[in-house]
Amino acid sequence: LIQGLDHIGIAVRNLDEAIGTYRSILGLGAPHREEIPERKMEIAFFGVGGVKLELISPTGTESAVHSFLAKRGEGLHHLAFKTDDIDKAARALLDKSFTLAQRPTDGAHGTRVLFLHPKDSHGVLIELVQEE
Ligand code: CO
Repeated sequence: LIQGLDHIGIAVRNLDEAIGTYRSILGLGAPHREEIPERKMEIAFFGVGGVKLELISPTGTESAVHSFLAKRGEGLHHLAFKTDDIDKAARALLDKSFTLAQRPTDGAHGTRVLFLHPKDSHGVLIELVQEE
């Protein structure tokens, strides 16, 4: 059901600045950028080997990432694991009494995603992602 690590999400205050920093550290080309208006955030994806880095920045104070930054500052935001069946994964997690912070929903670039509540996973927000 779970196929591996898909990406690591990092919350940042200034997306352009963070892109520059990570390009400089890792010697990367320009990332794929995307705005997600319904979640009031802007993201940049870098491919690093088989894993992606996702830099996430809020575009409004209503954004969950805005409150995350206010509470915890910049840094690791979530780990995202690939699944081939997100609905089955969601049912399995609910059966095991995990709390879903968000039911399967449309994510960036045509994916479907769900989020587990971090209280159930030792303080780390876990995302599951299914391609298309
Ligand atoms: Co993510």
